[in-house]
Amino acid sequence: MATDAGIPGFALTRVAPAKINLGLHVVGQRADGYHLLESLVTFADAGDRIGFSISAEDRFTVSGRFSVDLPLTGEEAAGNLVLKARDLLRAYLTERGVEAGPVHLHLEKNLPVASGIGGGSADAAATLLGLRELWGTSVHIDSLKKIALQLGADVPMCLEGRPLIARGIGEDIERFAEFPSFPMLIVNPLKAVSTPVIFRMLTSKTNPPLSIPQGQRSASDWIATLQSLRNDLEPPARKLEPEIEAVSKALMDTGASFVRMSGSGASCFALFADTDSRDAAATVLSRQNPNWYVLACNSVNGEGNCDGRD
Ligand code: C5P
Repeated sequence: MATDAGIPGFALTRVAPAKINLGLHVVGQRADGYHLLESLVTFADAGDRIGFSISAEDRFTVSGRFSVDLPLTGEEAAGNLVLKARDLLRAYLTERGVEAGPVHLHLEKNLPVASGIGGGSADAAATLLGLRELWGTSVHIDSLKKIALQLGADVPMCLEGRPLIARGIGEDIERFAEFPSFPMLIVNPLKAVSTPVIFRMLTSKTNPPLSIPQGQRSASDWIATLQSLRNDLEPPARKLEPEIEAVSKALMDTGASFVRMSGSGASCFALFADTDSRDAAATVLSRQNPNWYVLACNSVNGEGNCDGRD
């Protein structure tokens, strides 16, 4: 299912939606240093986009507001998760005798980088899904998830693109269709935050687990539940990047129903009772803080996702 007209000139376009950690509890640490999490996650109906076409040779091009922040030459460019995802899926298919020929990939980078909303992870997941389709293969979603985990702890959940609870280091995924769609604002002060640095700053690694009561239905019930959740990465992130506090306060001042930081920051998000109040808040925030990134969107509901995924 295509979500819109797609990127002109490409055979296929996939959206790489922004990921939102509605709650993120750090409950332990593995021997290899990775942290054990319990996170209620949803996705926006907006994000980066990736165009896919069969090509005479491999090509990678970029556009979009934040493409200037992507290194396109040297070793760092090879570290781009879109290219890593292409290479891993190609190696997996080639090993099994399936042809995975040259492709032109185009990344429209609409989301700020290193911003706690999973941009790079979402790009990697969308690349795996798009190339599976472009190459006409039927790699099972479970195999795709194993490849995804090699690219990053958040990549398997980004393959889902719908509400879920993630455990383990993020790879143990349970769909959570009950979580409804909300009008949403995502705001980032355009200060990049390093995820490993924030994890290293944690003072407690064994915090109380996620607890979500069964059977709740109304939007206000959900808001009350969300208020009882935490993002354990928010205190260290606020210490490292004081502007997070200003973003969070500005969002609360709009009268939003719920405000929190996502991932390791610095993006904060707000949920609203209706689209009119979301849009009014977006207008005010953009006017008062022209240097901030402000995205008015909706969180996806549990029945589908923004891109017609499995
Ligand atoms: O897996 P990914 O490359 O996205 O993670 C970036 C870094 O964040 C890791 O190298 C690790 O330091 C930290 N991390 C963690 N526990 C997780 C996920 C990420 O400590 N569950």
